[in-house]
Amino acid sequence: MSVSIALPQPGLGTFRLQDDVVIASVKSALELGYRHIDTAAMYDNEAAVGRAISESQIPREEIFVTTKIWFDRLSGEGVIAALRESLAKLDMDYVDLALIHWPSPDNEVPMAEYLAALDKAREMGLTRAIGVSNFTIAQIDEALSLPAGKHIATNQIEVHPLLANSKLVQHCQAKGIQVTGYMPLAVGKVMDESVIQNIAAQHNASAAQVALAWVASKGITVIPSSTKADHQKANLDALDLTLTAEEVAQIDQLDRGERVANPPFSPVWDQ
Ligand SMILES: NC(=O)c1ccc[n+]([C@@H]2O[C@H](COP(=O)([O-])OP(=O)(O)OC[C@H]3O[C@@H](n4cnc5c(N)ncnc54)[C@H](OP(=O)(O)O)[C@@H]3O)[C@@H](O)[C@H]2O)c1
Repeated sequence: MSVSIALPQPGLGTFRLQDDVVIASVKSALELGYRHIDTAAMYDNEAAVGRAISESQIPREEIFVTTKIWFDRLSGEGVIAALRESLAKLDMDYVDLALIHWPSPDNEVPMAEYLAALDKAREMGLTRAIGVSNFTIAQIDEALSLPAGKHIATNQIEVHPLLANSKLVQHCQAKGIQVTGYMPLAVGKVMDESVIQNIAAQHNASAAQVALAWVASKGITVIPSSTKADHQKANLDALDLTLTAEEVAQIDQLDRGERVANPPFSPVWDQ
């Protein structure tokens, strides 16, 4: 059984956002009430994210901060050194959650090695909780067979109406690992779906809100990004939207396994 931590719903994604844009986005979200910010070493925006959090004047302990360690830092002392670099950029003593961003391609670094290092970082107080991202069912099972496995709080994976990722979601949840859903709007593609548009009209809501409500209905924490305060507010309000079982079932039918994030170093995905 893995550990349970409270992942505030929703979180704010920051992928692609840089400098003044990410500072404004994080500040605006915090003002609206977001308390969960998702960054990564690879996004090259940790310093700006940290600055926005600091300038918000909200006490650090009230904000849940996630960062991620890139796969070129998984061997030897790499994990802990990478996390220390992230903390220096964020100007923080700890993050709330440190994730392995992608499993080591072709198992170049054994999972036992990098998960042990990540768990050591947790014991050292560099992060309150640990987790993984882009792990498949087999990789989750391997992780759970390792000593660090019992501390894995979440698997952050792509989930939206065009990629339900149901088998992996259900597997994680059955094993007590929370699912964090990234790209919950498929970076805008879900808004073009007439099924979602029609359901949105019924609720006097937007298509984006219906997509987020659908992901949340699966017990998944969503982390949409937005540079616009009105979109951020709408995304917060989306969590109050309750879809009927029939609406959820209609959106379930849109699953076509369509991935937005599918880089060459991806694992062999579960179908
Ligand atoms: N672990 C991983 O490997 C991984 C991979 C990818 C992403 N992520 C995380 O997941 C986060 C979310 O993914 P994402 O940012 O790529 O895509 P996303 O959240 O699915 O979509 C973001 C896009 O949707 C628009 N949008 C947001 N809210 C909207 C609304 N209410 N109405 C209309 N448009 C709206 C945004 O535009 P505006 O700015 O105009 O609102 C932006 O263009 C990332 O930022 C990152 O933190 C993790």
